[in-house]
Amino acid sequence: MSFENKTVVLSGAASGMGLLLSRCFVEQGGNAVMADIDEKTLSEKVAEINAIRPGSAIGVVCDVRDYEQVCHVCAEAVRVFGSIDLVVNFAGGAELRMLKEQYHGEDLPDIPISIFDWSLDVNLRGQVYFDHAALKYMRDQKSGVIVNIGSVTGEEGSASNIGYATAKSGAMNGLTKSIAQYGAPHGIRCVCVSPGPVLTRAAMANMKTMLGRAAEPQEVVDLILYLASEKGAFFTGVNFLMDGGRTLMTNKV
Ligand SMILES: NC(=O)c1ccc[n+]([C@@H]2O[C@H](COP(=O)([O-])OP(=O)(O)OC[C@H]3O[C@@H](n4cnc5c(N)ncnc54)[C@H](O)[C@@H]3O)[C@@H](O)[C@H]2O)c1
Repeated sequence: MSFENKTVVLSGAASGMGLLLSRCFVEQGGNAVMADIDEKTLSEKVAEINAIRPGSAIGVVCDVRDYEQVCHVCAEAVRVFGSIDLVVNFAGGAELRMLKEQYHGEDLPDIPISIFDWSLDVNLRGQVYFDHAALKYMRDQKSGVIVNIGSVTGEEGSASNIGYATAKSGAMNGLTKSIAQYGAPHGIRCVCVSPGPVLTRAAMANMKTMLGRAAEPQEVVDLILYLASEKGAFFTGVNFLMDGGRTLMTNKV
């Protein structure tokens, strides 16, 4: 697969799978527009990616909850590299982990609603914002691929992270199918990838799967790169649940 002269826009690119996909895309000839809220880490990681091929990456600080900031990321991508060929919505995470300093072990009804507001905004609204903002450019180009990111938690539900489970579930399917329906006549595809446990953090190894292990981040990134490439050209409007068979398990404890 070659992404020569192609440009990927990624949210959550300072860490985990977003960072890895940035690296892989650049190694395969493309450019990366790396967006993240964590300014310090982002600038360090952009420098690392540019060391692979100078001028191949830019960093744009962005809170995906702010539509103007999301639009700015897309505008920068087109200004610097001339197109947006791929968008991957990695920014996100389960609220009780991401906002752990605000969570003190309360029972679900006692958890402040602001925590769930944050989660719905980052995990759901942020993806709607990026899809919407990028579509303007993809429509003009008559091409593009958008990858939304769900989670096995959306399939299973969660008695504590209800914002995350809500955002990463049927909402992702509805968004993905809708963008695919709009996009098809314009040469735009949209898919969703919903991982099970991925070893971007060692703790994910504790989440059981039918295959007895968590996924390597590279396995998820490779699926996304395949779907984004010409080899994946007949996929649109579908969700890829990549969970090692976790949802098939009858006993997960
Ligand atoms: N790791 C897993 O096991 C797993 C499983 C299923 C789904 N996912 C999903 O995959 C995606 C990537 O996971 P990961 O483990 O690589 O992530 P990660 O936690 O390593 O990175 C997430 C990035 O998002 C950024 N971010 C957080 N809030 C933001 C905001 N408001 N605006 C912009 N950026 C923001 C963070 O700074 C961080 O760099 C997430 O959406 C996650 O929910 C991960």
